[in-house]
Amino acid sequence: MQTSTSIKQSTFAKDILAGLTSTPKSISSKYFYDDEGSRLFMEIMKLPEYYLTKSEFEIFSEHTAEIFDAFTSDASEFDLIELGAGDGTKTAVLIDHFLKRNVDFTYTPIDISKEACDALSTKFKARFPELKIETQNGDYFQILESLKIKSSRRKILLFLGSNIGNFNREQAVDFFKQLRQVMHDNDLLFVGFDLQKDPHVILNAYDDAQGVTAAFNLNLLNRINRELGANFDLSKFSYYAMYRPVECAARSFLISREKQTVSIEALDRSFDFDQWEAIFMEISQKYSPVLIKEIAGESGFAIDITFYDNKNYYCDSLWRPI
Ligand code: AVJ
Repeated sequence: MQTSTSIKQSTFAKDILAGLTSTPKSISSKYFYDDEGSRLFMEIMKLPEYYLTKSEFEIFSEHTAEIFDAFTSDASEFDLIELGAGDGTKTAVLIDHFLKRNVDFTYTPIDISKEACDALSTKFKARFPELKIETQNGDYFQILESLKIKSSRRKILLFLGSNIGNFNREQAVDFFKQLRQVMHDNDLLFVGFDLQKDPHVILNAYDDAQGVTAAFNLNLLNRINRELGANFDLSKFSYYAMYRPVECAARSFLISREKQTVSIEALDRSFDFDQWEAIFMEISQKYSPVLIKEIAGESGFAIDITFYDNKNYYCDSLWRPI
């Protein structure tokens, strides 16, 4: 059990304090993924409107052999390391193919949700009894640093699902530069990017008819209630999503339906919300091939090959350190 002092000093508490005292108020989307949030995100991936997962699945299914060739162009064995593996549905397509091709590889999925890690491990061990799998639960960079030291075998880092979209451009470059630092020169990075397309298609993906995305956002208020002793009344907030075609970014918000005060025990203070005041929750950046190339270059990578789905909704790009 954490003492109240240590909860107060936790990064989560500090980030919530910083977000709720800034203008506009914000809550970092990286905190969506507690166990319930990870479960809700898996529901999102199954929604008809959420095309991202379907497009990436199509790329993996239709270009499996080409992806295999690109991964093994100048190495016969490798370790596959997935950042934010979630339920691993897309990666399973690759793993199935790699096992059939008899290549020597291990699979290390890393996820911040312990529950997601355990579920993935159980599922993959049952489906692929011959797979060498070692799940890791925790901070990406700490784990990657330890793996870098452990072996010089080629590592292929997978960062799929357009997870990079939660960063603005500067943060994205920063993140890729940090990844570069924990990679050896012959390692590779395979990144999923959601592309610019009809704005209606994008908006619908973040504004689904069943309200799963709304529940996913509201769950974060529940997490703050539970972990930081807050008293958010979820019925007094509603979800609002928009897409800005100039910035090519979807943004989501929770809107305070009335004037209210919420107190957070772990922060020893309360926060006032005006009626209709917005809390900025998430940015989901959309990319163009030109932008992807610029980001790769600025981060210290060159693009080996990029795979697209049939609608050009999405791509997976294979990067090599320069
Ligand atoms: C996991 C960051 C890629 O931005 O599309 C889905 C998260 N948020 N629906 C995205 C999300 C609302 C998702 N990423």
